[in-house]
This record gives sequence, structure tokens and C-alpha cells, in this order.
Amino acid sequence: MIPASFVVLLLYVTGQAVQVRPDILIADFESEDYRDWQVEGNAFGPGPAEGTLPNQMEVTGYQGKRLVNSFYGGDRSTGRLLSPPFRIQRHYINFLIGGGGYPGRTCINLLINNSVVRTATGPNTQPGGSERLHWHTWDVRDLEDQVARLEIVDLATGGWGHINVDHIVQSDRPAVVDLRREFVAEKKYLNLPVERRAPRRRMRVLVDGEVVREFDIRLAATAPDYWVFLDLTPFRAQTVVLELPGADAELKGFDMIHQDDTFPGESELYREKYRPQFHFTSRRGWNNDPNGLVYHRGEYHLFYQHNPYGTQWGNMHWGHAISHDLVHWKELGIALYPRRYGDWCFSGSAVIDVHNTSGWGTPDNPPLVVAYTSTGRGECIAYSLDNGRTFREYEGNPVVRHRGRDPKVIWYAPGRHWVMAVYDEFEGKRCIAFYRSPDLKQWEFCSRIEGFYECPELFELPVEGEPGHSRWIAYAADGAYVIGQFDGQKFTVESGKHPYNYGNCFYASQTFNNVPDGRRIQIAWGRMNFPDMPFNQMMTFPVELTLRRVDGDLRMCATPVREIALLHGEERSFQDLIVRDGETRSVDAPGSLWHIVTEIAPGTARQAGLRICGIDLTLDFVERKLHCHGQSAPLPREATSVRLEILVDRGSIEVFAHNGAIYMPIGVLVADKSPSLELFARSGEATIKKLTVWRVKSIWFDD
Ligand code: FRU
Repeated sequence: MIPASFVVLLLYVTGQAVQVRPDILIADFESEDYRDWQVEGNAFGPGPAEGTLPNQMEVTGYQGKRLVNSFYGGDRSTGRLLSPPFRIQRHYINFLIGGGGYPGRTCINLLINNSVVRTATGPNTQPGGSERLHWHTWDVRDLEDQVARLEIVDLATGGWGHINVDHIVQSDRPAVVDLRREFVAEKKYLNLPVERRAPRRRMRVLVDGEVVREFDIRLAATAPDYWVFLDLTPFRAQTVVLELPGADAELKGFDMIHQDDTFPGESELYREKYRPQFHFTSRRGWNNDPNGLVYHRGEYHLFYQHNPYGTQWGNMHWGHAISHDLVHWKELGIALYPRRYGDWCFSGSAVIDVHNTSGWGTPDNPPLVVAYTSTGRGECIAYSLDNGRTFREYEGNPVVRHRGRDPKVIWYAPGRHWVMAVYDEFEGKRCIAFYRSPDLKQWEFCSRIEGFYECPELFELPVEGEPGHSRWIAYAADGAYVIGQFDGQKFTVESGKHPYNYGNCFYASQTFNNVPDGRRIQIAWGRMNFPDMPFNQMMTFPVELTLRRVDGDLRMCATPVREIALLHGEERSFQDLIVRDGETRSVDAPGSLWHIVTEIAPGTARQAGLRICGIDLTLDFVERKLHCHGQSAPLPREATSVRLEILVDRGSIEVFAHNGAIYMPIGVLVADKSPSLELFARSGEATIKKLTVWRVKSIWFDD
């Protein structure tokens, strides 16, 4: 803010000296009571609050010791504060505001003759959010000399039913400004500095007067924590306008934005401290669900939920990466951009329209078709004739309208039609709905099954060891699955719901369509937080799904795809290692990232296992359980000695026990620990019948 000490400041605008008068303080709310402000109701308490109130998230960003905080008595309380009249004698009114974002209900109003002539709210309407106050400015040049009052209102009683205000001043300088810049796009990237603690602002990119990109970004206020980029190639040689309305006048980041053929940090890319070395992560920003998993013309496509401009969920785009072997990934440009701000591209799937039922391709070049949720519209279809590099929208979108999202489309060969399994909230129930279509354009509702939440999956698996037998599987985001029959329209459930994964980070998985050798391959969102990195979250390692009898009952099993062998470096093998009661035996394991295969026989031990970088993976032969990092899973009865397969990367330990009957993907910052591998036994002696450890090579570099 402008220091109160100076008297007159001269600003030179177009050569003319303009006098800037000192600020006039309306209220700083530093006293114990509200002084000459009128108080109604109980929300504002006996006087300005000393910061955070009981049961409130930490309130920050106010000035001095006190502020207006209507969380007095919690969100349920209501009330109003009314200022004494004052004359408008400056160009702007600046103040700090936070709390609820409900117009008319959690707000500050400027009143002239009892009518509201300006209003502002806090930023929050959703659970989560932040109690931080930010500057707000009203331009009141048209109201000069009028007599006004301020009113601070809390009429809201639900979540975020409170308002915080502080430091109201009249000033000739706005605390927030509308920033604008113009340049000709010549380089590949527009580089944008991000600061984690800076307020989220909405930024617009315009070309020819049209908004071509619009997104939220925590543009650096002072110094960037990391940089993100926007692909400028579609706008080459055109004049690009950047707009940032309502920016803090002190904001530095806007001037740091620049175009370049590289992005800051690119030379360190994939070498960052926590960067997983054989799990896919996005170069910059946030990822969640894998989308559009499909094989086409030698490439596995991994599209994904992506925020390109920050490491938190938001601004949902479809990111895109490809692989020739399921393990080495190459990130390409963004595949699907939101049509406009707020109309996000949520999860969906991809198919190859081999028979060209849509007519969008040719028999020689069948289209790659994606189905996704456009949050403003419903389930939408887009197609690509250049192997997923660019997409065109079907003009008949949306193809399905309902309360739901996350369409998974498959070809139902016996009926020669398409099937969409989609998350659907019908009459308040969480369901998977099934639709069918002859051409990917016209969709007809068929049936529903209840009890599934988000990101459905549907596929057929052969029963191992029972030639000619197969079953259909259906599951949703948590992976818990039912086994049954599917006739192209209706799923007949034949089993209970079986838990599938016992880890701490698995969500919203999907399986590949069109895999040439018929394997059913799955990737999930690895919900794992990577602190202080320019990226966040990861994908789990691809697994092959099979259906086999475990303890006599059909179970879906997961094992790492065999292509893991492509990443094998040095190998160490051991046999018949005896680990004595209470002993910890260290294993000379090469490198720090591993693929481990071992078979442990209980012997007389109650517990035996591996200590991986200090994290215990314990088999308890009395409880018949597997434990790791706070997670546990029951061991199948038939597993007398237990075969374990383990993948250790910088941010995860993925455990597969008894040939995948137990799948336990664990997100944990292994990179924070020192690399070590040990064997242990407790309450008796155990035999490690076999142990093979391979060093796993990075998928990003030759090492
Ligand atoms: C699951 C999910 C989906 C949605 C997407 C949004 O993680 O909430 O239901 O499509 O993420 O990013």
C-alpha cells in the first residue's frame, strides 16, 4: 500500500504531471469495538476479531492485529455492519476481502441514498478454499463528492457463510488493476511464472478480438516458484493479447511473462528431486485420471486430466502422451482444450472406429474417436484423423445429456454396435448407465446398475485355465468390481463386489481399447502429492488384468506388464536365504529404483518381509495378512509361500502378491529416504526361497 508518510506523489502520465493525493483511511478495524459503525445481529461479535476465530481455518492477508470476521459463532450466525456516512474524495476505494463468495449474502456494499452502487464478495463457495484476504478496488471516479456509506453483510448460514474485510481506504491509486499486453507470437511457448501462495487469478488470451484461452493461474506476485507454459504455435505470426483483470497492483509476474522456444526449467526436466523415473507424470502442472487409453498404429495413447497452469486440480484439459512399448512415454501437446472458461473437458475414453461406422474416416484411415464429458454440455464426441494429434468436434454434441460424466466406450462385437458405460446419477443413486449406438453419434439408453461412483469400466476377460469361458467385469473409480454377463445392453451381476486394490493412491483407472495382442491393460491415476515440484500426481505402472480362480473363486488379478523387462538394468539373484528371528539382513541391490521378485516361505516365523528404503513390507503368516505403509490386505489361503513382485520408484511402491491376486499400489516419497533393501523375520525363522532384484532404468534418459 501507499505509505501514509508521503504527502504528494507526482505521476507522469503522457508527459503531464498528475498529483496523487494521500490516502484517506476509512477503517482499519484495529480497535476493540466497531467505534461509530452500527452493528446488527451477532455474526460480527463485540468488535473486530484478532485474526482467526475458534474452529476457523487460518485467516491470513489482513493488516495489523484485527479485522472484520463474521465467523463469530461459526457460519450460522448472521448480521450487518454499517459505516457512518463519508464523502467520496478519491478515485478509488481499496480494501482487503476474504471469506464467502455469495453475492448479496456475504458481501461488502457501497451505498448511496440507500442503494447499492458497488458490491464485492469473498472468493469461496466450495469446501476447501482459503481464508486469505485479497485486495479489491472499486473505481469510484463517477461518484466523486457524493455522500456514501459502507455495509458489510453476512446473511449466509451454510458453508463459507461468513465475510472478512479489512483496511478500507480511499486512494488515487487502485490496489488492483486490469493488466493488458500485446505481442506478436513468434516462439513456441508463452512462459508463465507461478507462485504457490499467490492468489488465483483468471487470465485471458485473445487473438483477433476472440478469447482463445482462458484459465485460472496463481501468477507470481513476487518471485516464481516454477514456470508453466502455453503452446503458442497455433497463433504463430498473429497478434496475441494477454489480459489479467483485477490484478494486485504490486503483482510482478505479469511483466515476467515472455515467449521463448524453451521453458524455464526445461534443461532440468525429469531430473527434479521427486520426479518418478518410470511412471508417467506431466512435464508441468497437475494430472488426474488417465483418459482415452487406446492403441492405434503402433502407438499407445495416454490422454489424461490435466491442469497445464498449476499443480492443483483445475482448468481441466486433456493432456496427451504416446508410447511404443507401454513404458517409455513422450508427452505431446494438449489434445483437448476447453471450448470456453468453465466448460471443462472431464474424463472419457477413446476407440478406433475400424469399420468407419461414423463415416468420419476411410477404411484406410479409421478415425480415433474420443468420448468425454464437457462440463457445460454433457457427453461429447470428437475425432482425429491424424493419430490423435488434432481433434474435430462432432457438430451434434452433446450426444448424451444426463446427470453424470466419464463415458467409457467399447465396440460390442457380437452386436456390431458401440456401448457407452457412463457414470450416472439417477434419482439420487450412483449408477453406471449403459447406452448403445450404431455410429458413435446416435445413442440410445439401455440399462443401469447401481452402486458405482465415477469413471466406469466394462470389459470381458477370459477365465484362465478354462478355455472357452469368459466373464464381463464392471467397476468404477475405486476399482471394486463385479463379475457377470453382458449382452450388449444389460449387465447381469453374478458376484458380490470384490475389492480390487489395497493401496493408498489408486483411483479412476481405465483399460486400453484395441490392444493388438488382446491383453487387458490398465493404468490408474496415482493420487500422490509431490511437494514443491513443478508437476503433481502420477500414473500407476501399467498392469495386465487376468481372471482366475483364487481359493476357488474368480478374482481379477493384476501384474506389471511384461514390458517392465525393457527397463531392466543390472540384476542380482539369491536363493534360499535364511533369515533368523529378529535378524535384518541387507541385500546388495543395484541403484535405487527396483523391480523385485521374491518368494518367501514362512518357515517358523510369524512375520517376514522386506524393508524397502526403511518402509516395511510385512507378511504376517499368523494373521494371514500383507502390510505396507499403513495398508493391509488378506493373503489367499492357497498361498503357502508367497510370491511378491514389487516396483519401487521415487514416489511409489507397487506391490503385487500371489501373482497379482493382491494389488497394493502405494504412493510414498521414497526419494526422501536413503536407498536400502533389507530382509527381516520376526518370531521365528523364514526362508527367502528366491529373490531377484533388477535396477530399473529411467524411461526419460539413458542410464
Ligand atoms: C475422477 C473425476 C471424474 C471427472 C474428473 C475431473 O477423478 O472426478 O469423475 O471426470 O475427475 O477431473
